[in-house]
Amino acid sequence: MADLKGNVIVGQSGGPTAVINSSLAGVYKTAKDRGAKKVYGMVHGIQGLLQGRYVDLSEHIKTDLDIELLKRTPSAYLGSCRFKLPDISEGRETYDAIFEILAKLEIEYFFYIGGNDSMDTIKKLSDYSLLNGSNIRFMGVPKTIDNDLAATDHTPGFGSAAKYIGAITKEVIRDGLVYDQQNVTILEIMGRNAGWLTGAAALAKCEDCVGPDMIFMPEVTFDVDAFMNKVANLHEKKKSVVVAVSEGVKIADGRYVCELTDGIEFVDAFGHKQLTGTARFLAEKINREVGCKTRAIEFNSLQRCASHIVSRVDITEAYQVGGAAVKEAFEGETGKMIILKRVSDDPYICVTDIYDVHKVANIEKKVPREWINEAGDYVTDKFVSYVKPLIQAELTPIMTDGLPRHLYYTDVK
Ligand code: F6P
Repeated sequence: MADLKGNVIVGQSGGPTAVINSSLAGVYKTAKDRGAKKVYGMVHGIQGLLQGRYVDLSEHIKTDLDIELLKRTPSAYLGSCRFKLPDISEGRETYDAIFEILAKLEIEYFFYIGGNDSMDTIKKLSDYSLLNGSNIRFMGVPKTIDNDLAATDHTPGFGSAAKYIGAITKEVIRDGLVYDQQNVTILEIMGRNAGWLTGAAALAKCEDCVGPDMIFMPEVTFDVDAFMNKVANLHEKKKSVVVAVSEGVKIADGRYVCELTDGIEFVDAFGHKQLTGTARFLAEKINREVGCKTRAIEFNSLQRCASHIVSRVDITEAYQVGGAAVKEAFEGETGKMIILKRVSDDPYICVTDIYDVHKVANIEKKVPREWINEAGDYVTDKFVSYVKPLIQAELTPIMTDGLPRHLYYTDVK
């Protein structure tokens, strides 16, 4: 039996992934195995904690089967939030309230599973803790389908979303050939201001599939007229045209393409606009101006919750980063985030390490320009070699009555 450790609390934050619960399982199981007295979960992240919403996870995750189900359950088991903590100088009462709850629960270790906005929370809490002589250890556990976290080779969640996008793009390309009729399909892919996920559409190009015709990412300014010309040219040459476009592509004046529609605007606590409608806008324009059958397919939340096709590499690493965070915090680290370091591509070897969360919070890592072709309408082979190891192998869902079974927490509603 390991030496007894103090109490732990863990939260999930930001947009979910198909494997974020595997990181939760990694934190929970490792903390328990290493002797944590209690492992609490924040319900809806730091926002819920501030409202006094937390749960003793041991009362809900009891068996090995529960752990296996948790790993395979999409969305965030504990619920998530998009909540920005105030600057310490301007919001001491918020921090006092959080630390009061942590003291009441006798918390010694605090884990937050999230992306660059969530690392802002770890940064501020660990800074406040140091300023006030608290001994609580704060650790960030990386996650995001966007793959835009600095310092880490990649983020858990990205590989599975990339695998889904590669697979579904192949299927859509196949479907586009069904009738003897000209058609153009625009795929809209998440990832906010980074094109990592959209680039993954190139995975569809393989032995039995030509892949998408073009890929447009936010790293390159989007020129609507040039896009229309390229589509029109392709349309003259082939029956079915499939184009992948990032939700976050922007035109030269800095506006998102989706802002050219008159959709409803929603902005979250971190100032991020909800990006939706790019594919619809472009497909309607093609339909009007090129005059052919078009489809707009917004992959939307499907790409981040498709746990039936997770990458085994990804779900395993998601669990590992959770476990590594516990190990590091129990050994005394604080104010850090776990990162993944790729040792080699073939065979694929990746190890965990720690990194100063101050150098990660709020920073968006973009696709290097040299991994996008000169015309700005496709990725290079280097991009594909980078992504391929991350989508390898599968983890079969546990099926009940023909459908994947999930583990859910009843207070997340
Ligand atoms: O950050 C992850 C992500 O899925 C982005 O790709 C997307 O733009 C955003 O979250 C959507 O956020 P929400 O679910 O809050 O609308």
